[in-house]
Amino acid sequence: MENRSLVTIAEHSKEKILYLLEMAKEFEKKPNRKILDGKVVATLFFEPSTRTRLSFETAANRLGARVIGFTDPKVTSSSKGETLKDTIMMVSNYADIIVMRHFLEGAARYASEVAPVPIVNAGDGANQHPSQTMLDLYSIYKTQGTLENLNIYLVGDLKYGRTVHSLLMAMRHFNPTFHFIAPEELKMPEEYKIYCKEHHIKYKEYTDFNEETIADADILYMTRVQRERFTDLMEYERVKDVYILRNKMLEHTRPNLRILHPLPRVNEIAYDVDENPKAYYFQQAQNGLYARQAILCDVLGITLNDVIEDAKK
Ligand code: CP
Repeated sequence: MENRSLVTIAEHSKEKILYLLEMAKEFEKKPNRKILDGKVVATLFFEPSTRTRLSFETAANRLGARVIGFTDPKVTSSSKGETLKDTIMMVSNYADIIVMRHFLEGAARYASEVAPVPIVNAGDGANQHPSQTMLDLYSIYKTQGTLENLNIYLVGDLKYGRTVHSLLMAMRHFNPTFHFIAPEELKMPEEYKIYCKEHHIKYKEYTDFNEETIADADILYMTRVQRERFTDLMEYERVKDVYILRNKMLEHTRPNLRILHPLPRVNEIAYDVDENPKAYYFQQAQNGLYARQAILCDVLGITLNDVIEDAKK
């Protein structure tokens, strides 16, 4: 049987990405449809989450599915030593699809290989976050009118930030120029720079973050320094506030610039930026609902045509 799991965005073609964006657009027009009536969606969160879990659960609820799951593995039998494989096998008995966030890189791939139902990777360690990427792409498309030929600045924790790793891979289809702004300790890992070279993705690297550096940005993608991934907390303390975006830095930026952030933010975007029309991170999180409705439907075998036909009922 075809494995419809969404483990990494790298597996999606350009056509597939554009197709999912079309589907997200349909859901934005009308989020409430009972197209998943009778389905059960399991959300297994072995790591904390606000947006990803709640937007997946909202997506499922608005589509008429039912939701089971947990937000704290300590209250499950994994705290008694049950393996990930056994947990996945058990939940597959109850649900049609599993949305899983796990702290181990590769956990989603492993789950997709052992599960009889499809897996959606809701973030695996510092590796990938493909559903976040779909909402990021949807946000970029909505604000820029295109995904092609954009100047995209990725700022902050490029080492542990799984959202920037996924975004970079998805953008290979759209001829971007990436600008990586990170301190030495949090630079984009070598494997992703090799990926850029192999896929002819242009990139530049900087350690300075100031008005001049970002003057020609179309997208400024800020990220949080991920405290939970550091083994040395002294190192975290050294780099945690290294870049802070302030409103006055935006004065001479392009009119089409939009500021994205996967959230949560800690200190890297000052609150005075929130009122700037170029700040788009809260709308970006809202777009997560529509993007995740599209993902749930696609993984469960519902087509764009099914969605359009359903709207006529
Ligand atoms: N962007 C994101 O993954 O947010 P949460 O950790 O709150 O799900």
